[in-house]
Amino acid sequence: MDTNSNSAPPPGPALHLNRPVVMVGLMGAGKSRIGRELAARLNYDFVDADDEIVNAAGCSISDIFERYGEDAFRDVEMKVITRLLDGPPRIIATGGGAFMNESVRQKIAASGISIWLKADLEILVERTARRTGRPLLNKGDPKVIIEELMKQRYPVYASANIAVYSKDVPINQTVDEVEAALENFLIAGKQQKAIEQ
Ligand code: S3P
Repeated sequence: MDTNSNSAPPPGPALHLNRPVVMVGLMGAGKSRIGRELAARLNYDFVDADDEIVNAAGCSISDIFERYGEDAFRDVEMKVITRLLDGPPRIIATGGGAFMNESVRQKIAASGISIWLKADLEILVERTARRTGRPLLNKGDPKVIIEELMKQRYPVYASANIAVYSKDVPINQTVDEVEAALENFLIAGKQQKAIEQ
């Protein structure tokens, strides 16, 4: 008799990555939190492209937008992501607008694996309200802005290799789903769309 039938399966060996994994999605989707946790589980480094931009510029993202404008930010963002993609396999969190740049998308498609964390409006509104420093959300009602960004961006994010819903559940649950989808993608080499689009 199988006495263990109700227990969770033992964790398998950590995944072997041959390319960087790039977390994609709107502000508040959990790209950094989930990416960091995924990296810890898989025993790879985690790097946040926004943090790298801040380090390179020596000032905050809000300051970059204010002093030099969004176009300048996007230029630095592309350079930073290009450099990170040239590095060793690891988990890279990108800012929500990065994947909207076609050239960035092509570079990610050529040398990385993209994971879109899809989230509903209410969750994004609730999560983004918890921290400041996102200049795009200061231009009006964050809910209206996020809704508009969802319309513009979700069809583009949908071209990511893998898509996983980022719901209002304990983080480990979402990381489990991301890990499983990544494993399937690597093993089967197939598109993993864990959600309806
Ligand atoms: C942006 C998202 C931000 C940051 C910048 C612009 C966007 O990153 O890159 O404020 O265009 O969606 P997060 O998605 O990590 O908040």
